[in-house]
Amino acid sequence: MFKDFANVWSPVEQSIKLATQPIQFELAGEKIVLFRSKTGSVHALLDRCPHRGVALSLGKVTPEGCLECPFHGWQFEGDGSCTHVPLNPEARRELLAATPIPVRELGGLIWVYTAAGATAPEEPQLPDGLLRDDVARVVLVEEWNAHWTRAMENMLDSPHLPFVHRRTIGRAMRAQLKPKSKMHVEWEDTPFGGRTKARLDGARSEAMLEFYRPNVMALHIPIPGKHFRIHAICVPRGGNRTRMIVVGSRDFLKMPLLDTFFRKANRRIIKEDQAVVESSTPSEIPPGALERSVESDRATLQFRRYYYAMLRGSGHTPAKTEV
Ligand code: FES
Ligand SMILES: [Fe+2]
Repeated sequence: MFKDFANVWSPVEQSIKLATQPIQFELAGEKIVLFRSKTGSVHALLDRCPHRGVALSLGKVTPEGCLECPFHGWQFEGDGSCTHVPLNPEARRELLAATPIPVRELGGLIWVYTAAGATAPEEPQLPDGLLRDDVARVVLVEEWNAHWTRAMENMLDSPHLPFVHRRTIGRAMRAQLKPKSKMHVEWEDTPFGGRTKARLDGARSEAMLEFYRPNVMALHIPIPGKHFRIHAICVPRGGNRTRMIVVGSRDFLKMPLLDTFFRKANRRIIKEDQAVVESSTPSEIPPGALERSVESDRATLQFRRYYYAMLRGSGHTPAKTEV
């Protein structure tokens, strides 16, 4: 299950997108169904009925808050337990459970843990820009034809700023660029992942990128005394499909009228990245030694090591229901 992306928390969808109808989401090649029970709390199950393998997401939520399979009407609670088997009152329902997946709702996003089970061994780690309730947030969601690892690396890569983003967030750096300029990339391990800063020709910049394992980047844009961040979350769908969730957060100019402006600015930046990321060959990042790297690739090489040490090769054990 969840090939090359097992045992981690990932956002998958905006909370507001999940209403009364169940929805299917493919995460790292595994189809899951998300639904809300009567109390409004969110639940996730493998989107595969234990009876005959039908997609539970084609079913409906009953007035009691159970998910009903569209084929023979079996009903399941949010924890997967089977509550009703039509036409078979003597069925041993304790043997007929669906597979639960841990899920949380945080910062306006639905987070899923990539392993089967009712509980997860840890809680998701979030940058404060996704959690604070005194900031205004704008969200934008795009689907890319790229492997998520290339997208994630791009988000941790400072040296591309004066080239790909020469007219947007890389404009200032571009103006300072000289033929002999040198970029020094710092990397610091943190409990949640890492923190990286890039200095051009020794100039100090307060701009900073934080990496939250496995797939969240928080860019701190320096405005003295203000909170201004862009978060980019690279969600693997399967193969070369990645959902990009981009969340901007700010504690100034919070009028909702200005959201359109900030969203548009973030969309422009993310579109600049999309073209180069989708063109990468091979689509998945190879181990560091198989591509040429230089000093300023320090942060992306850190991600590459993490991916090969912790994620690549994870999640190959077949689910019980696959036997
Ligand atoms: S396939 Fe789901 S109830 Fe039969
Ligand atoms: Fe970029």
